[in-house]
Amino acid sequence: MADDLFQKLEGIQACVFDAYGTLFNVASPVEKLASTIGEKAVDVAKLWRQKQLEYTWLRSLMGVHADFWVVTRDALDHTLEVHGITEAGLADELMTLYLKLDVFEDVAATVQAIRAKGKRCAILSNGSPSMLDSIVRHAGIEKLFDHVLSVEEVGIYKPSRRVYRLAMQRLQIQDAPSICFISANSWDAQAAAQFGYQVVKLSRVATVPDRIPGKPVAVIDGLGKLLQLV
Ligand code: LAC
Repeated sequence: MADDLFQKLEGIQACVFDAYGTLFNVASPVEKLASTIGEKAVDVAKLWRQKQLEYTWLRSLMGVHADFWVVTRDALDHTLEVHGITEAGLADELMTLYLKLDVFEDVAATVQAIRAKGKRCAILSNGSPSMLDSIVRHAGIEKLFDHVLSVEEVGIYKPSRRVYRLAMQRLQIQDAPSICFISANSWDAQAAAQFGYQVVKLSRVATVPDRIPGKPVAVIDGLGKLLQLV
C-alpha cells in the first residue's frame, strides 16, 4: 500500500459510513440461496448490484426518483430475466433477505472504538429509511450511530452533491473536511472526496480507481485500520 494513501486524518469531528458493500454484504442474499440459483449465482449477484447502481444513476439523471426498494427489485427482475431464471418465489425471497443482509464482522467493534475516541458516527446511504432501519437492527448496531441518513431526504441518489451535503447539514458540521467518509464503493469514495470530505476508501475486494475526479486520503483493506487514521 502506498504511504501517501495511508496518512492520518486531522480535524475529524465525525465518521460517515456508506452502507451497502461497506458495512453490509450485498452478496449475502444470493450466497444464501446459491443452491437454488445454481452455477449462475455469482453472475446473478454481480449483475443485480451493477444494475441496481445503474438504475440509481439513470433515475437521478432522468429526474424520476423511485426509492431504493423499487430500484433494487427492478434490478433483480432484470437480472433474473437476463439469466432466464423463473423459479417461483425466488425474487421475493431474495428481497426479503436484502432486509437482513450480513454485516461485515469488523463493523461493530470498529464503530464502537471510533465512538470511544469521541467522534460521532453516521450512515449515509442510498437505502430507503425502512431498508436501512431493517439491516441496522438485524445486525444489532442501531445504537452505534448518531444518525442513519437516507437519500430519501433529498430525493436523488449518490453521487449527487445534495446527498453528501445532507450529512453536513444533519451533523451540523460547516466544513466538509471535518467529516471522514468511508466507502468500499470506489465511485462513492471518489465522489465524496471531490465533494470535499476526507475520504477513506475501504478495499473489501481489490479494485482499481475509477477514472473520475476525487482522490481518497487513505486506502485500507480492513475497517479496523480506520482506528489508526482518525
Ligand atoms: C449506499 C450504496 C452506494 O449504501 O452502497 O449508498
